[in-house]
Amino acid sequence: MLTAKGRLAGVIGWPVGHSRSPQLHGHWLARYGIDGAYVPMAVAPERLEAALRGLAALGFRGCNVTVPHKEAAMALVDELDPLARRIAAVNTILVREDGRLFGTNTDGFGFLANLQAGAPGWSAGRGPAVVIGAGGAARAVIVALADAGAPEIRLANRTRSRAETLAAELGGPITVIDWADRVAALSGAALLVNTTTEGMVGRPALDLALDALPADALVNDIVYVPLETPLLAAAKARGNPVVDGVGMLLHQARPGFEAWFGVSPVVDAALRAAVLGA
Ligand code: ATR
Repeated sequence: MLTAKGRLAGVIGWPVGHSRSPQLHGHWLARYGIDGAYVPMAVAPERLEAALRGLAALGFRGCNVTVPHKEAAMALVDELDPLARRIAAVNTILVREDGRLFGTNTDGFGFLANLQAGAPGWSAGRGPAVVIGAGGAARAVIVALADAGAPEIRLANRTRSRAETLAAELGGPITVIDWADRVAALSGAALLVNTTTEGMVGRPALDLALDALPADALVNDIVYVPLETPLLAAAKARGNPVVDGVGMLLHQARPGFEAWFGVSPVVDAALRAAVLGA
């Protein structure tokens, strides 16, 4: 339902058709019977500033920001959450009462909440984490793991210099691992996360033999198309607990939904089906 008093939010991207956020938030709006709407907004890069400025005038409570605007949005909000600064990307914007824009990032929250929901009892403090990849997704994962108390984060990226830059920027317990040494780096790990695009539909599997990985290490993939990537299938086959990647998408949406629409939403099988079936 939507009346003239309805609460408004949406997602800004370019293009925006690939975003699953409208299905995600739309499912929750219907489920909780909220007077509100969540709309996709295709905004070209040169119009991002005007679009963000227009949010308050249009009565929007905020928005999500997706590709390619996540970095540019940092400079355009009035107040930037230090967490978003560390991740170097804004994915969630709240419009304050006075119209000022607060930019934050909920990807790290979504990553951790997904692991906690998918592997009850798991905690970052359990042991070393191995993170494969050093792109934008890796930043959110590494910041979240460091803040949650991971004792060691072994970071392996095909292009070593990118991992070194990330480690220098983020600080914390990061050890840069040479790409050639990634297999041995799995020894003694409690968590393995793929943040690269390898294993995504149309891409080759991540080239990583799991022999050295302890049998009780948790394995997670940021890729969720397909839901069971070759990495997750291989981990499952040797008995490792696994958590798929779509939960990160679902959980990262929770803080924004609660701020905009006033309900703390639940991530469950019905939501997964609504988003995966979209
Ligand atoms: P995102 O912001 O989504 O993380 P990105 O910044 O393009 O995307 O990063 C993609 C990641 O996948 C990088 O870590 C990239 O490694 P490089 O820094 O060496 O490019 C990694 N990646 C892409 N193709 C890869 C491949 N064939 N083998 C290993 N890693 C790959």
